[in-house]
Amino acid sequence: MSKLRWGLIGGGEGSQVGFAHRAAAQLDCNFGLVAGALDVEPDSARKFGLSLGLESGRSYGSWRDMLNAEKNVMGEERIDLVTVATPNSTHFEISKEFLEAGFNVLCEKPLTMSVEEAKALVLIAKASNRICAVNYGYTGYPMVRQMRSMVLARELGDIRLVVAEFSGGFMADSLDAENPRVKWRFSSKHSGMAAITVDCGIHALNMACFVTDKKVVEVSSDFASGVKSRELEDDNFSAFRLDSGIIGRLWTSGIAIGRTHGLTIQVFGEKGGLSWRQEQPNQLFWTPLNKPTHILERGHPDLHPSARRANRITIGHPEGMVFAFANIYRDLFEVILAKQRGEKPDFLALDYPTVEDGCHSIEIVEAMTRSVANNSCWTKV
Ligand SMILES: NC(=O)c1ccc[n+]([C@@H]2O[C@H](COP(=O)([O-])OP(=O)(O)OC[C@H]3O[C@@H](n4cnc5c(N)ncnc54)[C@H](O)[C@@H]3O)[C@@H](O)[C@H]2O)c1
Repeated sequence: MSKLRWGLIGGGEGSQVGFAHRAAAQLDCNFGLVAGALDVEPDSARKFGLSLGLESGRSYGSWRDMLNAEKNVMGEERIDLVTVATPNSTHFEISKEFLEAGFNVLCEKPLTMSVEEAKALVLIAKASNRICAVNYGYTGYPMVRQMRSMVLARELGDIRLVVAEFSGGFMADSLDAENPRVKWRFSSKHSGMAAITVDCGIHALNMACFVTDKKVVEVSSDFASGVKSRELEDDNFSAFRLDSGIIGRLWTSGIAIGRTHGLTIQVFGEKGGLSWRQEQPNQLFWTPLNKPTHILERGHPDLHPSARRANRITIGHPEGMVFAFANIYRDLFEVILAKQRGEKPDFLALDYPTVEDGCHSIEIVEAMTRSVANNSCWTKV
């Protein structure tokens, strides 16, 4: 039997991210899906929920019906964590209402559409005394956690430069630009202040902050549209500075044909450099100053405890994105359970991405849009 009960909103049949959440949350049998409002269409939502094994009374036609019913469920049956995997513009309202009703929430990125909403959500989470996390799932990769641990252990010495990229050809087909499933992403009415930056770049920015344990303080951004009919950017090249003057570079793009997924993170310190890419997540390339490059393998006993803890299967058997998401769920499981028992969680479980991290990302994107409006001038976050 599952130890904690899980509810899912969005992530319906055919959605991009739904399967990864269902697989990741249930990978360790820590969470069991007990309630859901999985689709914007009520009938599809109920039907899909039943097909996943939900009881008919807990497979809802809308998130509001789910909230109204589930907030009255107490004791053994009450949901311990709700995941919000709906389109961006709904994140704030759904997360806010579930937090206010006393539920722990894992919200998809981007946390909100505006800085005001993001700041409000931080306060609401605090007042509710509940966990509010944001799904920067790539930070769950063992070798990304290894990177962070090596930086924090000063194995690279002082960090000088971080280069983060999330560039692919996913939005490159100009013939597809009028397709409604693509078009909304580039309209300010539906996407808010930015397009590819909140869709993809936000992950890379968060990774830059995660591996260095620093915040972005200043940005200078160039947004452009390779597909000319688009209102919002499909390419963003930004310079930034992190605390302590660390140099940052971001390139995020939807028109980079051939780059497949294209998420990479590189950190350069005075004593060496680290390089990781999402398409080869089990290896981390480590080059000490004046020495040849070493390949650090996920699953090796010499890795830092954070990376060893995030590892699931033996070395040489590839793990991927679902396992990375599963590490976020396992962190949340440990933190929620510890809180319910009045205990302290494993310190390493606290590496999950928080509502504050989600808010910081929105602040960075907002500063980027101000920089763009001001001829790419350096702009404070
Ligand atoms: N963390 C990641 O790596 C990652 C990856 C992909 C997508 N995402 C994020 O996940 C969210 C969903 O993206 P997607 O690509 O799966 O979108 P999608 O359009 O493929 O699927 C959205 C799903 O939500 C449902 N839905 C829409 N409105 C709803 C509502 N009001 N109530 C209940 N269900 C509703 C839809 O019916 C659909 O099943 C977005 O915010 C996106 O940014 C994150």
